[in-house]
Amino acid sequence: MKIIVTGGAGFIGGNFVHYMVNQYPEDMIINLDLLTYAGNLETLKPVENAPNYKFVKGDIADREFIFKLFEEEKPDVVINFAAESHVDRSITDPESFVRTNVMGTTTLLDACRKYGIKRYHQVSTDEVYGDLPLDRPDLFFTEETPLHTSSPYSSSKASADLFVLAYHRTYGLPVTVSRCSNNYGPYHFPEKLIPLIISRALNDEELPVYGKGDNVRDWLYVTDHCKAIDLVVRKGRVGEVYNIGGHNERTNLEVVKTILKALGKPESLIKFVTDRPGHDRRYAIDPTKMETELGWKPEYTFDTGIVKTIEWYLNNKEWWEHIISGEYTKYFENMYGERL
Ligand code: NAD
Ligand code: DAU
Repeated sequence: MKIIVTGGAGFIGGNFVHYMVNQYPEDMIINLDLLTYAGNLETLKPVENAPNYKFVKGDIADREFIFKLFEEEKPDVVINFAAESHVDRSITDPESFVRTNVMGTTTLLDACRKYGIKRYHQVSTDEVYGDLPLDRPDLFFTEETPLHTSSPYSSSKASADLFVLAYHRTYGLPVTVSRCSNNYGPYHFPEKLIPLIISRALNDEELPVYGKGDNVRDWLYVTDHCKAIDLVVRKGRVGEVYNIGGHNERTNLEVVKTILKALGKPESLIKFVTDRPGHDRRYAIDPTKMETELGWKPEYTFDTGIVKTIEWYLNNKEWWEHIISGEYTKYFENMYGERL
């Protein structure tokens, strides 16, 4: 099979490319990524010379480019990770989220319609369901929970999901959608909570915690998400949505304190700062459908996954230090400059 993975130079897409290239040597993995600030080819170093891997730089919202690529490659499967993914950035610049997350998705869907596809998979998020109250731990997001978004980011993701499902109903396109909770693990860009806290704590810098730090997120180790997506693509029913999560809820303050303890750093580094506007209170996924229908189970709990993650950041300082210094943006030029 020829599989186009979009956004494969980002956090989850990069981990997914590693997994697929190693797991399925008979498949060809084409990583299509625009290399925005969040795209980092240093993440792909472990697979960049694999015979079943290829990188293509391009924009999923560029219709002419996408149609030409589909014409040339005739992919069997498209898995769309590419997105503007940071909620705080969506509050200051909503338009780029509409362009990539909505128009990029419809461009890919149109190319799939034109050139034919065995499966289009949309990597979505639990944020499309909005949030849950902090005092109702009995409530969880199921696939039937109504969409009720809070931020420009989640609104753009919900909009994309609706287009994907509409293309199934209207045109019979074979699609699936997965909605996952917060991921963490290797290659996570240090603007997001966990890598931000680890990298700043290691440099003895202040750690910004929004509001009172009592918002709750449901954390999933990234490779558990990657395996779940692979399962949905291979065995999931077309036209269906699958929620992915492992019942690992923590308040933000608990997460920060766990990291400080593991690193032997003082809690005095914590600095409570002005809250994020519209800040979602609690996310919590009910993964029953993934478990009963597809037999998926996560390998890691938060306690085991966070130890593995901290170890990775300690052993791969160069990766995140290059991001903080801006060095990583030179990698494309160094690696591909003379070849393109
Ligand atoms: P990320 O920001 O780390 O990576 C996004 C990647 O997409 C980058 O490599 C970037 O260069 C690329 N990209 C951006 N715009 C593009 C465009 N127009 N054309 C081509 N490539 C483009 O994001 P992530 O955290 O890895 O998230 C990946 C996907 O998973 C997103 O769709 C996100 O909504 C979803 N998701 C993320 C989480 C999470 O916790 N991070 C949880 C659930 C779902
Ligand atoms: O739930 C899935 C979503 O998880 C994905 O769809 C998004 O792409 C991904 O970015 C993530 O969104 P969050 O907003 O939950 O992640 P973030 O790491 O930005 O924040 C996690 C929590 O920590 C949130 O409650 C805000 C808080 N926070 C975040 C940052 C960056 C802080 O308290 N301080 C910070 O500096």
